[in-house]
Amino acid sequence: MSETRPTPRKILVTSALPYANGSLHLGHVLEYIQTDIWARFQRARGHQCLYMCADDAHGTAIMLRAEQLGLTPEQHISNMQAEHERDFSGFLIDVDNYHSTHSEENRELSAMIYRRLSENGHIASRTITQAFDPEKQLFLADRYIKGTCPRCGTPDQYGDNCEACGATYSPTELIDPVSAISGATPVEKESEHFFFTLPAFSDFLKQWTRAGHLQEEMANKLAEWLEEGLQEWDISRDAPYFGFEIPDAPGKYFYVWLDAPIGYMASLKNYCDQRGLDWRDFWKKDSDAEVYHFIGKDIVNFHALFWPAMLHSADFRTPTKVCVHGFLTVNGKKMSKSRGTFINARNYLDHLDPEYLRYYFAAKLTAGVDDLDLNLDDFIAKVNSDLVGKVVNIASRTAKFVNKSGGVLANALADEALWQQFVEAAPRIAEYYESREYARAMRDIMALADAANAWIADKAPWSLAKEEGKEAEVLAICSQGVNMFRALITWLAPVLPNTAAKAAQFLNCELDWAAATTPLADHQINKFKPLMQRVEKSQVDAVMEAAKESLAKLQAEAKPASGPLAEEPIAPQIQFDDFAKVDLRIALIANAEHVEGAGKLLKLTLDLGGETRQVFAGIKSAYNPEDLIGKHTVMVANLAPRKMRFGVSEGMVLAAGPGGKDLWILEPHEGAKPGMRVM
Ligand code: MSP
Ligand code: ZN
Repeated sequence: MSETRPTPRKILVTSALPYANGSLHLGHVLEYIQTDIWARFQRARGHQCLYMCADDAHGTAIMLRAEQLGLTPEQHISNMQAEHERDFSGFLIDVDNYHSTHSEENRELSAMIYRRLSENGHIASRTITQAFDPEKQLFLADRYIKGTCPRCGTPDQYGDNCEACGATYSPTELIDPVSAISGATPVEKESEHFFFTLPAFSDFLKQWTRAGHLQEEMANKLAEWLEEGLQEWDISRDAPYFGFEIPDAPGKYFYVWLDAPIGYMASLKNYCDQRGLDWRDFWKKDSDAEVYHFIGKDIVNFHALFWPAMLHSADFRTPTKVCVHGFLTVNGKKMSKSRGTFINARNYLDHLDPEYLRYYFAAKLTAGVDDLDLNLDDFIAKVNSDLVGKVVNIASRTAKFVNKSGGVLANALADEALWQQFVEAAPRIAEYYESREYARAMRDIMALADAANAWIADKAPWSLAKEEGKEAEVLAICSQGVNMFRALITWLAPVLPNTAAKAAQFLNCELDWAAATTPLADHQINKFKPLMQRVEKSQVDAVMEAAKESLAKLQAEAKPASGPLAEEPIAPQIQFDDFAKVDLRIALIANAEHVEGAGKLLKLTLDLGGETRQVFAGIKSAYNPEDLIGKHTVMVANLAPRKMRFGVSEGMVLAAGPGGKDLWILEPHEGAKPGMRVM
């Protein structure tokens, strides 16, 4: 009765690498859940399936964001990666490895692939003219230039299109353009760039995109681009840039999208190197492995044009399939920060069980690229009705009778014909998973759950249990109930791994896909414990409330347009040890006097509670010496002495302000004594 086990396949699965720039939101989560369900399904079928992901850590946006946060890019991406990994595990995304594109493996592989492209004559170089921020000393991508729309005159529009009238243009057409980073007026500047000669792969790609690697609608879309003709792809960026320097091209960096997909390989290499495996087994030309990339529809050109062409040139295999999904909307609206429909992964996880969303997405996911809507009322209704009301209900209404009669399942089925429906469904459900038609798989599973519940209701074991001498019949009915539940939860395990694990505990057996339709007979089960709670509206409301708060926080964090922080952003983060090197002490200003011939300085004698220091401070424009005598202040006591024209200065007093009259020295609260350390 059981299904035959398929011949083991070797499969590498990836999800698009999220930018190490911000928190994951439910749109990302949709993709990672889709991928994870597929990977778990493959493993459940006995295949070797490795799921690789990583943070996409390079690029201007990440560099600027780190600067804005007062962090080095390395610190920033390491914080983001830790957060992303927490969210992955929160949603039960079982990646085999989570790496970073800013890794040694990726540096090495990117250089190697670039070298191969270059040796094959697929890298061209030429000088281009680009907008340049003279203040920030940085070339500006279109999205970093703002100005007035040349068509409708709306101010404050981004470099390539107008939000008000929809016009598209080049940033040079903007009226009064400014750098969105510094506010400076951009200038045109020349620079040498490197290009990947994509047109050389036109014929290869025309064939590749039609060879079954893509959904038909995607292949059609790409055919349009291929017909229009491909352009050479600019793969270099000038310093300052956070990324990998291009070999033999000082000051030139790989554009983030060059090394990002190589990050898939790098993550696998990192995984394999730790286990004595060879990552090339999956990527070499004649590999017997399959490679699947799960991505959103916005990045299909990178994965289905640039990436296969690069792989082809560099003598690697190309992906088996690029699986494209649509975008998540919330209550019918685009996820957007301005509409308040932007839900972070963490907002959800703080209030709701990840399996609810895993199921809801599964119930809506198809192999197509249509957008998918998270309708919150529908979410509550569907989870409660399908999971709690249908699937878990089968176990909760039958298991207790088995438990009561000793916990051993009957040795034969009560209804062979009903069971046959389950047997016949098994290969169909597997096929739906395989082809990413999860919605169909869920529909089949729920239809079987409906059939099971209707049958149990009809048999009404709870009534029979009250009659004399019906014990065997009750046990037979309920045993079949438990077995039907077991089959369903085995098929749902890729979607509901936690509930499946709890079910396995209660069923006292491993959930094995190949054995799901071989009923357990004469088998001891454990005591049934509730498997899942209903979703409450209040929990969903709490998620939306948290989402609003996160958004407000993000907006408050955004760089101030003016004021001290805009003029002087917070310096890169330091560790406590770095801070502790600076020995700050309370000092009594024992004396203060003018210095002959010095326009700006006052000479201070600072009493550190026994020792004194002489300090020349540039505060003459703001203070009269006599007003300072007898006051306490804070000084850097271990600063190397500096020889000045008027004598040696043995430290520094702390003061704030832009200068001139606007200078204020620090004064401790009443009670601090000279010599006390300031920490
Ligand atoms: N870093 C690139 C991918 C590099 S892969 C070598 C990137 N990152 S991303 O963070 O912007 O997006 C990661 C994935 O999430 C992409 O596949 C993208 O399509 C997907 N999604 C982002 N927003 C989404 C929705 N609202 N809905 C569904 N998927 C979404 O692109
Ligand atoms: Zn306009």
